[in-house]
Amino acid sequence: AGGAVSDTLGRPLRDLRISVTDRCNFRCVYCMPKEVFGRDYPFLPKAALLTFEEITRLARIAVSLGVEKIRLTGGEPLLRKNLHELIAALTELHTPQGRAVEIALTTNGSALAHHAQSLKDAGLTRVSVSLDSLDEARFQAMNDTGFPVAKVLGGIDAARQVGLDPVKVNMVVKRGHNDADIIAMARHFHGTGIVLRFIEYMDVGATNGWQMDQVVPSAEIIERINAQMPLDPVTPAYPGETATRWAYRDGGGEIGVISSVTGAFCRSCTRARISTDGKLFTCLFATTGHDLRALMRAGGTDDELADALAGLWRTREDRYSELRSTNTRRRPPAGQRIEMSYIGG
Ligand code: GTP
Ligand code: 5AD
Ligand code: SF4
Ligand code: SF4
Repeated sequence: AGGAVSDTLGRPLRDLRISVTDRCNFRCVYCMPKEVFGRDYPFLPKAALLTFEEITRLARIAVSLGVEKIRLTGGEPLLRKNLHELIAALTELHTPQGRAVEIALTTNGSALAHHAQSLKDAGLTRVSVSLDSLDEARFQAMNDTGFPVAKVLGGIDAARQVGLDPVKVNMVVKRGHNDADIIAMARHFHGTGIVLRFIEYMDVGATNGWQMDQVVPSAEIIERINAQMPLDPVTPAYPGETATRWAYRDGGGEIGVISSVTGAFCRSCTRARISTDGKLFTCLFATTGHDLRALMRAGGTDDELADALAGLWRTREDRYSELRSTNTRRRPPAGQRIEMSYIGG
């Protein structure tokens, strides 16, 4: 076992996204709407979660198969106790070529000011913070828990101060909700070194009531910004990058757009996901996962796990976003779609 693997479309396994908790302290309307994720929502019990040892073991095996970048997600990953210990363990991993594995984190930023230093000390490479608006009323309406903008901005500052670099900010744009904030966000982060990325609202999960007319196409976002702050295209940082990059002509840094709806990037998608309870998903929109936790807890060896993972990757055919754009009826029914908070976005 071990050695690089490619799927049926020739895409190598390069990135592993691991959801460390299905819980979150926000109730973003496009991700965990309150009506569904209420007091009685059956979140996973503690015993169902992969332990840090199990996560590290799967990560080590994935690295032996070609993974170079690990991203911890949730829910809100900083709700998982002692996350810095997991990060410290993951930083021990090295690629077969002897390079350190990049460890990134996607967070809502609410507790980042508190954790930034210990995350940095543990060896976290970089962090991406979700922030959908600078307007207090609109931000609170989107996170639906009355959480203030200033605390997230404080988390972003703290991340920069401890030297997590680059810090990226993710803004999911939903027409009629926060598209009026696009320019204000661009102006706020212009010249700061923070990379702001605009994300097309996606039809992920079964609970957010997604409709195509709520998507603001990336081309429109770029046009609106370019009209006020001229932009030039930038070549991708690496093949399979989610974001298309643009630089301010005045040297004020760069922004990105993630066009999962209007410009699918499946062709170069090298991402595998592990859900909070240890299922492997070969696509954000996959309807079934493969239970690696069961295999581990039944006493599977490292070789057996590597064979299972490699086998799943070799037969991978997923290209959901591409198919959606050519045939919207390919969308699986709501009952079968996986929630983002469980699979990690
Ligand atoms: P970088 O490594 O900084 O480029 O991060 P990233 O863009 O891979 O990850 P991040 O967690 O910041 O996600 C940004 C947005 O891209 C989120 O809305 C994700 O759900 C979305 N995204 C990430 N990977 C994929 C993917 O493979 N497919 C689709 N459709 N969306 C993705
Ligand atoms: N569409 C696009 N992005 C989403 N995210 C959560 N739900 C959606 C959705 N429906 C974003 C979060 C976070 C990242 C992991 O995914 O805001 O930045
Ligand atoms: Fe929580 Fe992130 Fe989902 Fe918002 S988008 S509810 S912050 S997991
Ligand atoms: Fe990858 Fe699936 Fe996203 Fe396409 S839709 S980029 S295959 S995760």
